[in-house]
Amino acid sequence: MGKVTVFNHPLIQHKLAIVRDKYTNTKTFRENVNEIGSLVTYEITRDLETKEIEVETPISKTKAIVLAKDVVIVPILRAGLGMVDGIQNVIPTAKIGHVGMYRDEETLKPIMYYAKFPKEITDATVLAVDPMLATGNSAIAAINEIKKTGAKDIRFVGLVGCPEGIEALQKAHKDVDIYIISIDEKLNEKGYIVPGLGDCGDRLFGTK
Ligand code: URA
Repeated sequence: MGKVTVFNHPLIQHKLAIVRDKYTNTKTFRENVNEIGSLVTYEITRDLETKEIEVETPISKTKAIVLAKDVVIVPILRAGLGMVDGIQNVIPTAKIGHVGMYRDEETLKPIMYYAKFPKEITDATVLAVDPMLATGNSAIAAINEIKKTGAKDIRFVGLVGCPEGIEALQKAHKDVDIYIISIDEKLNEKGYIVPGLGDCGDRLFGTK
């Protein structure tokens, strides 16, 4: 079973309070979602494989440590885009794939309309990013698609989850660890997380 890590670092929780507040404007919302993306990346990547190389400082040669494998960020469109800059600021060498999903408002099932990944990512660490882990349907479908590339080290990165989504994702993808910053109470009948933060895509892009 994939493990679930919930960050409760004070800086992250402070930013989450801003993001939850319905009076937070689009610019501030977007900035804080990205900043949380940067902060959580340190924790998510704590166990990445490294290798030793030799570099020359202005003074002498020395051994140094660098990442051994590629990191690929895969935002689940559209809301996943909101965390990409924040994560990439911390891992500038990361490549980016995209999975486009929208939710049929009646069935709440995800419909995939786009998928594009960097070449040869079998050995990479792939971060599947969606701020909201609600029903889990989009995350499950996106990770199904990512797995077709042969990628094996896949981690789900989000902000707010709920028990229903976590359980569904854990059941569908036992090998995927989940990193979020809050497990909220429940899903409502429209598939929104309660208390959550509303429609993350709309709040990021000012579409409502
Ligand atoms: N997607 C969102 O943007 N918000 C929710 O609460 C659930 C899914």
